[in-house]
Amino acid sequence: KKILMLNGPNLNRLGKREPGIYGVRTLKDLEERMIQLGTEMQMEVVCFQSNHEGELIDKLHEAEDTGIDGIIFNPGAFTHYSYAIRDAIAGIACPVIEVHISNVYKREEFRHKSVVAPVSKGQIAGLGLLGYELALDAFKREEGKEEE
Ligand code: DQA
Repeated sequence: KKILMLNGPNLNRLGKREPGIYGVRTLKDLEERMIQLGTEMQMEVVCFQSNHEGELIDKLHEAEDTGIDGIIFNPGAFTHYSYAIRDAIAGIACPVIEVHISNVYKREEFRHKSVVAPVSKGQIAGLGLLGYELALDAFKREEGKEEE
């Protein structure tokens, strides 16, 4: 299986950005870890980050067109208000697992709503960077199921 890990705005600042909330590991650390884990699990992980809504939408379309099997997506603050990203997810058959590093439900009120959750396969929030690994595991473990 080929999996895309997609990170949205401000996640290029991981490690520097509010480390009390998002931790001290960088995006590079995360991407390297996910690629490595993928190799161990016999999956190919490709990574992309952008601060731009349109670029994330293009990447979602491209994922579908190039036969990506699953997307692990942290849309950052777009989670809470981007109907364009929501529509892009709704318009592709490729399953998306939504990941948030922090527990958005115990933070500010505006973070309690996700407009992408209703069009996602599932959501993981509050488990730090481990959430991305668990999403990869979820795609791995359902491999057999989908091929039946
Ligand atoms: C986030 C939570 C969002 O509310 C925030 O805007 C982010 C990161 C998370 O991973 O916890 O940029 O998606």
